[in-house]
Amino acid sequence: MREPVELAKSYRLLNHGPTVLVSSAHAGQRNVMAAAWSMPVDFDPPKVAVVIDRNTATRALVEGSGSFALNVPTRALAAATLAVGGISARELPAGRDKFDTFGLTTFAASRIDAPLLDGCAAWLECRVLGEPRIQQQYDLFIGEVVAAWADPRLFADGHWRDDPAGAEDRTLHYIAGGRFFSTGEPFDATATPARTI
Ligand SMILES: Cc1cc2nc3c(=O)[nH]c(=O)nc-3n(C[C@H](O)[C@H](O)[C@H](O)COP(=O)(O)O)c2cc1C
Repeated sequence: MREPVELAKSYRLLNHGPTVLVSSAHAGQRNVMAAAWSMPVDFDPPKVAVVIDRNTATRALVEGSGSFALNVPTRALAAATLAVGGISARELPAGRDKFDTFGLTTFAASRIDAPLLDGCAAWLECRVLGEPRIQQQYDLFIGEVVAAWADPRLFADGHWRDDPAGAEDRTLHYIAGGRFFSTGEPFDATATPARTI
């Protein structure tokens, strides 16, 4: 289930710092990897940053196509997140990719070629804003968000819902060594007076 997210609100899909899945496609190849290091960097037009290591197979597809998608997985996809982040597409037998290897189904993006993963909480379609120096020196890619989508059960009217249906619907935050936090309880700090010094 997915509905479009207003681009001006799309930063909110990443504002709480979830681990994402970077999907990409170029020249008949498609791929997906995990990325804990991504974040929004601007509101309008919305932009994101993500570290895509030079040794990944994803890197060539992103550089070749000039685009990528950030898919926001839920806890139900934690094992898949670890799986696609634990093996390179280069290690798979010829003719196989991570989608068929790990049973991940996809649907077409609206503005880019990268496939979007079924079952995620949200999706951001991004076009690379070429910054060769930071790409080469820091493996950091800046993308403009050109379309965004969310599962309306989890994110609606520009906000994450306070009451996701269950633990499996919470988004992920990577620790290390195969362990994650899942997103916790939201709370509102606006009613709590700040301490004065
Ligand atoms: C939870 C998790 C988070 C990761 N975060 C990043 C990241 O932010 N940037 C990165 O370059 N690699 C990250 N990795 C490693 C890549 O996902 C991994 O190198 C992957 O195998 C690359 O796949 P590819 O070569 O098929 O593109 C992460 C791995 C895991 C499991």
